[in-house]
Amino acid sequence: MSLRGDKKLEQYLIENFEWFHRHPELSYEEYETTERIRAVLTDAGIEILEYPLATGLVAVVRGRKESADGHYGVTALRCDIDALPIMEEADVPYVSEYTGKMHACGHDFHITAGIGAAILLQERCEELCGTVKFIFQPAEEEAHGAMKILESGAADDVERIWGFHGDPTNRVGAVGIREGYVTAAVDRFVIRVRGVGCHGAHPDDGIDPILASAAIVQGLHSIVGRNVNAFHPAVLSVTRLQAGATWNVIPTVAEMEGTVRTMDREDRVLYERRVRETAERIAAAYGAVAETEWTAGPPATYNHKEMARVCEDVARKQGMEAVPEESSMGGDDFAYYEDKDAMGRELPGCYVKIGVGVGQQIHHPAFRVEQTAILPAAEYLAAILLADSASASGR
Ligand code: NI
Repeated sequence: MSLRGDKKLEQYLIENFEWFHRHPELSYEEYETTERIRAVLTDAGIEILEYPLATGLVAVVRGRKESADGHYGVTALRCDIDALPIMEEADVPYVSEYTGKMHACGHDFHITAGIGAAILLQERCEELCGTVKFIFQPAEEEAHGAMKILESGAADDVERIWGFHGDPTNRVGAVGIREGYVTAAVDRFVIRVRGVGCHGAHPDDGIDPILASAAIVQGLHSIVGRNVNAFHPAVLSVTRLQAGATWNVIPTVAEMEGTVRTMDREDRVLYERRVRETAERIAAAYGAVAETEWTAGPPATYNHKEMARVCEDVARKQGMEAVPEESSMGGDDFAYYEDKDAMGRELPGCYVKIGVGVGQQIHHPAFRVEQTAILPAAEYLAAILLADSASASGR
């Protein structure tokens, strides 16, 4: 007996969406999620490709249409599948059954729209030229699940990649599209400032790491204003500053942590160098020693011009409203697929924001997706993949 039976696609997708919403799994723990995706796709007659992945999976729809020039392209759609460690407060009848875990970023919507697009594309494979891979990717929230997919070899033959995110600042039927940078490179730093602890009444006996840290925080904020080109977006935030345990002791160590967001590759390199220099030299001026630990996350996501046009044209044809999208200083590990350093070659990509109804922001405990967004999103994504394959020959 088929899972879908005689259900209409929309009803079937909504039922699955609710199932995924009730069973949220954190990054790298998406076992039940993966099994469910596998079952639904297999039930629809869609082929699953075997790659060495503990969670997440890659499915494929093979086109039957003959290419005009003999070139059969391989494109991919990326759907991320993980949830967040958040206690759900959304007022929905299909609330999370796993206490403290929630699909607060709408990846349940991504999974379902991706499944819907695969089913629709499979139904129209006679019109499809080339191959489309559906990448159900783990651990986007940890910002390196994309690397697991790349390491598995699943993207080796991919020529272009499409991505999307549900957008709670837009109504259902609207899609935010932008050419160029859409999300920022995400870097993280920890700075440890070591001084000499002493009595709070006798600061002259020690070296105060708190005072040095205060100066470092100020100094770090001068980088964007004094070192980065004024036309290049960049942000630095110090988000944690910790030192000491009581009122009358100057501690030995202070520690701060924060993030740097940039779009431009060279700014990213510049920032790392200037953060290290600023911390070390200001600390030295106070007689303290600063050490910086730098962790590079995903690079910036760049929307290829021609692909952004396809998204706009298809939106118009599907009766959706294409709205201009602002670029965000947020990040998405989708950028790894496009990145030359991660891929060994540059891969053109495009990432759009699909309206899911105006409400609480993503990662909010009361975030929710309007279910009416699911089928149109699936149809839109399938139409993009089909339109892309039509223009693929001659590429
Ligand atoms: Ni997300």
